[in-house]
Amino acid sequence: MTELASKLDDVSQRFAAAVDRANDEQALESVRVAYLGRSGEVTTVRRAIGALPPGERPEAGRVINDAVAAMERRLQTAYEALESRQFDAELSSSIDVTFPSVRGPAGSIHPARRIIEESCAYFARHGFAVVVGPEAEPDYYNFDALNIPSDHPAREGFDSFWISDTLLLRPHTSPMQIRTMQQHRPPIAIVAPGKCFRRDAVDARHLFQFHQVEGLLVAEGIHFGHLKGMLTGLCRELFGAAQNVRFRPSYFPFTEPSAEVDTTCPKCKGTGMLGSQSCNMCGGSAWIELGGSGMVHPNVLREVGYDPDRYSGWAFGFGVERLGLARYEVDDIRRFAKSDPDFLAQLS
Ligand code: DAH
Repeated sequence: MTELASKLDDVSQRFAAAVDRANDEQALESVRVAYLGRSGEVTTVRRAIGALPPGERPEAGRVINDAVAAMERRLQTAYEALESRQFDAELSSSIDVTFPSVRGPAGSIHPARRIIEESCAYFARHGFAVVVGPEAEPDYYNFDALNIPSDHPAREGFDSFWISDTLLLRPHTSPMQIRTMQQHRPPIAIVAPGKCFRRDAVDARHLFQFHQVEGLLVAEGIHFGHLKGMLTGLCRELFGAAQNVRFRPSYFPFTEPSAEVDTTCPKCKGTGMLGSQSCNMCGGSAWIELGGSGMVHPNVLREVGYDPDRYSGWAFGFGVERLGLARYEVDDIRRFAKSDPDFLAQLS
């Protein structure tokens, strides 16, 4: 037994030295085979158990098993150390992990998109559905169904990009009112954001491609007060709690009565003055124009098969970039169309 133990000791020591010397995977594998393999040195020692008196054999078996377990642990540690040395070597030969990384400029959400998202979120909170529709629409949806027949002078206000005799790029999002009402029975509550196109000369207040947010609520018992409440809420959402809203009598063929909507100028806080000068945002008027609104015209309700004696509704359409001018106190609407990252980053 003592002889076996000292033999085992010797094997273990030589094994340890061999493991320490091995500096690649192949060398480690050879060491494993030479000592722990089927005809390795440990097996030779194990065979010697047979020569021991039977009473000593179980103890001898345990001693050998413990030694083997220790050797296997040592081998495993050596494998792991080797692997991590190889990984470090690979990193240091090909990659300098201390080198500062190159950061591309981060993008930001476009202010028009942000206004659309916040407006939709406001209406969604009040139970409205968000709908989107085609950017090229037949004149029926753009005009006829909205109580603007082909000989109606209001068509001149929509100087449009015509694709064919009957198809045009929509100059407003109001066609979505018709599409929604044709598909659903009242009550209806939707917001419809989207791109619009007009053959307008581009200047500080006009783009030929811009966005609108349209809204429509139709149910029994809807009146102008509901419109005022919801649009006042929208302005407070977009511009802050102090915002006021003003409704100016106006005319749209698809609403009666109709109103243009102004909100207190966020730059001069509705005073019209900046210090001793008149405010350059609102021109001293204290108000900023946002878009149109009104009570849905009975002809429009009839067109989609709703009974105007039973149902009533309000609608509005605001220019998103116009909202942006006021909200971000921007001097020129063209900035929203330029994709200048410096400008966009300032607003994000
Ligand atoms: N569609 C109109 C425009 O682009 C804006 C508008 C006015 C929309 C009144 C409406 C509304 O829904 O009720 O000039």
